[in-house]
Amino acid sequence: MYQVGNLVKELTNKHGRSRASLMPILQGIVEKHNYLTDEAMVEVAKELEISAAEVYGTASFYSFLDTKPRGKYVIRVCKTITCSMKGKNEILQTLEDMLKIRVGETTSDMMFSLLETNCIGWCHKAPAILINEMPYTELTPEKVVEIIKSYMQK
Ligand code: FES
Repeated sequence: MYQVGNLVKELTNKHGRSRASLMPILQGIVEKHNYLTDEAMVEVAKELEISAAEVYGTASFYSFLDTKPRGKYVIRVCKTITCSMKGKNEILQTLEDMLKIRVGETTSDMMFSLLETNCIGWCHKAPAILINEMPYTELTPEKVVEIIKSYMQK
């Protein structure tokens, strides 16, 4: 049976065990499984010697706490202030129109999930989104259409 502990060990070996490793480790787990289980978060807390609450807090802040399996590509639209002021709504609207889903939903072919997230650290190049772990920045609706088309062809 697959052991989440092994993946967590692999990721901590790769990224280190400092507090700064938490995000890349969580991203690594989400990349592999599309969502985080309680078990995975407890393992991460053990490895990094921090509290499970801290892991949970970080995961929920970045909305990595998916309670159900998501699509192959999880799109996270930054909803924090800089991105909001720089056209986040248009970006979100474009995604909703193109994928024919709303925030929180997954396309019926399980290819795309659409979520909002808090600041992902690209404010200087807002508006920004993540598709899985890949950031896309300085977006316009036209750019978003091109990006999503390229994912549809993958
Ligand atoms: S506000 Fe959107 S990346 Fe920081």
